[in-house]
Amino acid sequence: METNVMETNVAYVICNMNDIPSQKARGFQLMRLDDDGTERPFSIVIVRWGRQVFGYLNKCPHDGVNLDWERNQFFDPNGIRLMCGKHGALFELGTGQCLEGPCKGRSLTPVALTIIDGEVCARV
Ligand code: FES
Repeated sequence: METNVMETNVAYVICNMNDIPSQKARGFQLMRLDDDGTERPFSIVIVRWGRQVFGYLNKCPHDGVNLDWERNQFFDPNGIRLMCGKHGALFELGTGQCLEGPCKGRSLTPVALTIIDGEVCARV
């Protein structure tokens, strides 16, 4: 099966589950090392919905910008979808699919997350 989820067997702790209130999202600025050792910024957003978490690159598929034009403001006014602050694209929380806006039909890039002992970990 082909998947866009970037996943390895290595899990990196990002935060404690309790650092993100339920039905909220939070951005994290991470750093990746390229094969040649170059550091590259790696910005992600983690959504918590009850006991579930969803991770995506913090990058709108329309223009490649961060979704949160105001820091950590990721939701639409109804608080049920992710929203890009630049042109208002709306994304389904669980799939990252754009439901409305200029990138309708495209999707956010998922980041594989796992919960280990209450810690939210990324498998990247
Ligand atoms: S950059 Fe996100 S909707 Fe245009």
